[in-house]
Amino acid sequence: MNEKVMSAPGVQTAPATQAGPSAEFRETLRSYPTIYHLRECARRRLPGFAYDAGDGGVGADKGIQRNWNALDAVELMPKYGVTKGLPPTGVELFGHRYAAPIGIAPMGSPGIVWPHADEFLAQAAQKANVPYNLSTVSGMSIEEAAKHAPDVFWLQLYRFPRNEFAIGFDLARRAAAVGAKALVITLDVPVRTTRTREVLAGISSPFRFTPKMIMQALGSPSYCASFLKYGIPRFGNFGKYAGENVSLNEMSKFIQGESGGAFTWEDVARYRDVWKGPLIVKGIMHPEDAEKAVSVGCEGVQVSNHGGRQIEGLPATIDVLPGVAAAVNGRAKVLFDSGVRSGLDVVRAMALGADMVLAGKAFLWGLGAMGGDGPGHTIDLFIDEMRATLGQLGVRNFEEARRVPIRHNTAFRVS
Ligand SMILES: Cc1cc2nc3c(=O)[nH]c(=O)nc-3n(C[C@H](O)[C@H](O)[C@H](O)COP(=O)(O)O)c2cc1C
Repeated sequence: MNEKVMSAPGVQTAPATQAGPSAEFRETLRSYPTIYHLRECARRRLPGFAYDAGDGGVGADKGIQRNWNALDAVELMPKYGVTKGLPPTGVELFGHRYAAPIGIAPMGSPGIVWPHADEFLAQAAQKANVPYNLSTVSGMSIEEAAKHAPDVFWLQLYRFPRNEFAIGFDLARRAAAVGAKALVITLDVPVRTTRTREVLAGISSPFRFTPKMIMQALGSPSYCASFLKYGIPRFGNFGKYAGENVSLNEMSKFIQGESGGAFTWEDVARYRDVWKGPLIVKGIMHPEDAEKAVSVGCEGVQVSNHGGRQIEGLPATIDVLPGVAAAVNGRAKVLFDSGVRSGLDVVRAMALGADMVLAGKAFLWGLGAMGGDGPGHTIDLFIDEMRATLGQLGVRNFEEARRVPIRHNTAFRVS
């Protein structure tokens, strides 16, 4: 294990110059040349339960595999002779210019995968100037997220319907008070489902160590050291409602009691009234849902199947993206996630109609492989690869990438 890298928290310098990657990035590239390598290192270095918590999906992981296979199958046709040098990757979204169209998707309890993960993710996103979407059930509070990622943080919301959405609306108001750049409502968890590898690993809610997990953790000195430093993951957002001093067990029960059920479009419309900034609905697969989102005033629709963590039988998100983009037809921004593992995948999604791409597991693999330095290197890899992909295709920017001939045989058109 590379203890030097694992134990040094913080983030790296993005390979931000037009001239190409920084020397520091090139050096790290020797050990972790792709996100695929980060996954492999994470698998070897993390305790088994921590790896499974981040990497596993629902059922037999077939939904995860389908997302990957469908992205891999998208082919882009190059044309040479026009461009010079490395194309820029900056994009504008909701009035903010980001360094690249790659963001960190919301992830609840990433602290199981790597202690203090929320903070590392937020800091890396802020440093690289890419979106960081805080989960409702993160270890870090909205106010802490605003400190770590003041320019780039968004809040994701699950459904808290009790007392006329008292908690849900308050979370949105807290996000507005500290300057969140967008509010993301997750539609695709209408019921709770079972993630097979989490169950087999013994992961429960609230999180508690079983003897088997302790044995696994002892085999990973870096994880143990980080755990001793930062402690067990908690829920950062709910002290105000459940009481600041309640136990993790009580907090977990409180959250389960308050949350759940399927968002209706009326619910979304009520959030539209409460939240004045950009509103995104996440988990859109059907073009008619995209249409509905636009009609209730959402500025963004996020094509997502929760990275294959909720149900195995959905189409791959890349296959429904063109249909959703066509339905939206420029009236809202189209965001995309699920299965993204490279800058090439980002370009594929942008070419098929996305305005912003997000990834979840890729960043957890970064943490698992490199500790606190991992999210920064993951962002660097994405940006370096997307710049190389644009250059290889012979296009000058993402706009031109949308005009390259594309073979996408598995596209899912809802007639
Ligand atoms: C460990 C983990 C926790 C997640 N928690 C949330 C969450 O709290 N809210 C949410 O909307 N999505 C959640 N997601 C889904 C991600 O936001 C995103 O849709 C998904 O990870 C994208 O697929 P990818 O992992 O293949 O990139 C979670 C994903 C992972 C891997």
